[in-house]
Amino acid sequence: MIIIKNVRDHQGNVSDIEIESSHNISIDGAGLTCLPALVDTHVHFREPGHSHKEDWGTAAQAAIEGGVTTVFDMPNNNPPCITLKNLHLKKALIDKKLSTVDIPLRYHLYFGADCHHFDEIPKCRNQVVGIKVFMGSSTGTLLVNKQNDLERVFEIAASEDMIISVHAEDEEIISQNSKKFSSETDPSVHSKIRHPDAAKAATAQAIALAEKYGTRLCILHMSTKEEIELVREAKARGVKVYAEATPHHLFLDDSRYRDLGTKVQVNPPLRSLSDQEALWIGIQDDTIDFIGTDHAPHTLEEKQRPYGSAPSGVPSIELLLPLLLNAYNHGLLTLEQIIKLTRTRAEEVFRLEPHSDVVLVDLDLEKRVDDGQLKTKCQWSPYHGQVLKGWPVCTILKGNIYEIEAVQCQKL
Ligand code: DOR
Ligand code: ZN
Repeated sequence: MIIIKNVRDHQGNVSDIEIESSHNISIDGAGLTCLPALVDTHVHFREPGHSHKEDWGTAAQAAIEGGVTTVFDMPNNNPPCITLKNLHLKKALIDKKLSTVDIPLRYHLYFGADCHHFDEIPKCRNQVVGIKVFMGSSTGTLLVNKQNDLERVFEIAASEDMIISVHAEDEEIISQNSKKFSSETDPSVHSKIRHPDAAKAATAQAIALAEKYGTRLCILHMSTKEEIELVREAKARGVKVYAEATPHHLFLDDSRYRDLGTKVQVNPPLRSLSDQEALWIGIQDDTIDFIGTDHAPHTLEEKQRPYGSAPSGVPSIELLLPLLLNAYNHGLLTLEQIIKLTRTRAEEVFRLEPHSDVVLVDLDLEKRVDDGQLKTKCQWSPYHGQVLKGWPVCTILKGNIYEIEAVQCQKL
């Protein structure tokens, strides 16, 4: 049994909290706040195939450092997770890697939709958290952009009662814009090529399909006001549509190409301040259900290549909670909203097993983000140098204590 003494809950009430554990330890929680550990609904932990960018050992350490004890991992691996066989190979590899770092991270895998393997979907039904559909191409080879193929996936998912999570960017619009802007070399052209129109068109198409077949649909990494409006209207019509936002779309905007260049090249791209504002309104009116990091590590060497050769993606799993607590300290959202967006809504929508993992946070601790201290293998973030107020100090996963800052522990 773990007892956390004199700890505050998210409403500020102080009490002792008991957590089932094979260890008998008491933790002094005075001055700390206990929150449910986070679910990160969107990560790319890169194995199999790209372990030079990240592996499940380093990624699990980064997750714990950020108070995250559950992750949903994306299928754009090599080989991609598009068959039952590949799914089993991926699971075996992950279990082996997690055991080497002694972190029994809770994880769920996405099945990747691929036009040639639709018959594999029902076979994987009870073993995946959902089906990931790349409607526009991004990192990796997965793409389903033909209307007929999309109709089939949405129909299969509905009949199997599986959720579809979409990367909603229209392939045709992206490829036309790529030609149109082919002479531009500044990384900021990325936001012109992957224009808001591409996100709007694909999101509208996905919502129409969900409505037609009764499919449960999640729009991943919403980045534009147009998407927010479409999802808000669809929810009001009773469509079973859910929405995710990422920290980079909430905390960075397209002016940051100036200082960060291809480091902040990401799909969908960074947007204008008015889009960012629409996301925050979407948080306030519950249009947005989850915040997932889209943790997409690439090495610094890869990211320092010129625009056109640099890969897209931003890592952030261990900074999600500090960024949100900092936003809380600036009055942008409440602790209740953080809990909903990073745990309870995902548990409901994705029907997760309940558990009692928690993270102890120091709401007043101020620290500067230092890329050199990050646990992610890629060792960089777009937040380097920023002072954030509110940090996790201890994560408890399956009754195991992981100290981030020194906490006072005693044997019971
Ligand atoms: O920027 C991105 N990076 N967007 C994606 O859709 C994939 C991700 C990655 O895997 O690198
Ligand atoms: Zn992603």
